[in-house]
Amino acid sequence: MSNELPSIPVHTSSPDEKATLTMPNGQTIELPVLAPTHGPKVLNVSALYKQTGYFTYDPGFLSTASCDSQITFIDGERGILLHRGYPIEELAAQASYVEVAYLLLYGKLPNQTELVEFGNQVTYHTMVHEQFKQFFQGYRRDAHPMALMVGTVGALSAFYHESLDINDAAAREIATHRIVAKMPTICAMAYKYSIGHPFVYPRNDLDYASNFLHMCFSVPAEEYKVSPTLAKAMNRFLILHADHEQNASAATVRISGSSQANPYACIAAGCASLWGPAHGGANEAALRMLFEIGTKDRIPEYLKRAKDKDDPFRLMGFGHRVYKNYDPRARVLRESCHEVLEELGKNNEPIFALAVELERIALEDDYFQQRKLFPNVDFYSGIMLHAMGFPTSMFPALFALGRTVGWISQWKEMIGEPNQRIARPRQRYTGEQIRRYVPTNDR
Ligand code: SDX
Repeated sequence: MSNELPSIPVHTSSPDEKATLTMPNGQTIELPVLAPTHGPKVLNVSALYKQTGYFTYDPGFLSTASCDSQITFIDGERGILLHRGYPIEELAAQASYVEVAYLLLYGKLPNQTELVEFGNQVTYHTMVHEQFKQFFQGYRRDAHPMALMVGTVGALSAFYHESLDINDAAAREIATHRIVAKMPTICAMAYKYSIGHPFVYPRNDLDYASNFLHMCFSVPAEEYKVSPTLAKAMNRFLILHADHEQNASAATVRISGSSQANPYACIAAGCASLWGPAHGGANEAALRMLFEIGTKDRIPEYLKRAKDKDDPFRLMGFGHRVYKNYDPRARVLRESCHEVLEELGKNNEPIFALAVELERIALEDDYFQQRKLFPNVDFYSGIMLHAMGFPTSMFPALFALGRTVGWISQWKEMIGEPNQRIARPRQRYTGEQIRRYVPTNDR
């Protein structure tokens, strides 16, 4: 990012701005226009059904704003991502993940006292109940780590459900701290279980990223020193994955939480949604794809498949519902990936050179240019995580770890809304007309 902040149009709210809609029967109604700080204005259609008997229709929510939020802003056309107004490039370069977590949760960068206090809160909740280990025993060792995460994160509800009155702000606060604090421990336990290693307890003397790496890679048999380069790369990875507006998993957490469900269960729902290869599972799928392509001379064959409508293959790590420009996170991750490979003496890793070549060819290809398909956050992250020593199946779990603070920030914002109500979309019914039951003998 250049030193200049990009100038983003700021809307002045004009309270009486309206759009007029004329219905097929000639009825005209006025739809209030609501102005944002940045980004598209919105048409408030919440009274449309009451006034006209019509629903709006927008499968996949391509043109639908589901809520107000002050947490994250994305300008997909210009490849801009802000967290509480701060560009992701500046946060990734200068902040710690715990600092960004505070920013997402409380709306401002913490001063030194606030950062220490919040950091201590998180540190002192990193341990899980000793009985928590039993949940893992029921899984096969080769279970996908996301199957362990979905199950065990939800199981946190079993330990805290009774003590949680989500209508009480203090109870919500401690639930938030517990979730941010325990996710690295659970994620590391999922990894250790999958490789048959004993679980490693968290350490209060390590920062968030170092503590997580220590719980993943240390063994009782010898001292494990966390590499500052890997710690920096993990810190940056977590920041780049922290939040991303109303993506599928954040929307899942909001909808689950709107029924006043236990926040631990809502985060488990977020893990389930993120697991899909179209979403957070894409980092795992992207690396598997690169290994399958193998060599640069096979790139044209795979690009051909990616463009073939009869072939379900897609270029994993490319394309985005919102970004129609280079995902700013992918740019930072590409840099971090290079640094990690350099530091680990793996910068001649063929897989990285293959990724750079695949990106170059794809970005020159008409199909990708016309559809504005650029590398997204998942394209380079897999290569970096692979170089750091994580198995491919752990990649979505690491994405979930980073995204947890975004999910719980979105949950906190939603549950704290004065007129918070259950989210309950409608549908366009295209099924059978009403008909009589037919007894079995007459069918
Ligand atoms: C994440 O929402 C978020 O913010 C998500 C995320 C976050 O931080 O939470 O950013 C994280 O999920 C990133 C995306 C990771 N997924 C992938 O990398 C999987 C591969 N990408 C595609 O599945 C797809 O691009 C999506 C799912 C990401 C976006 O899908 P859309 O917006 O529904 O777009 P689409 O499927 O309608 O595609 C539009 C066109 C289609 O062609 P036409 O029908 O117009 O001819 O682009 C084509 C698609 O076939 N296309 C691709 C493609 N992605 C879209 N063609 C080949 N390869 C691809 N990767």
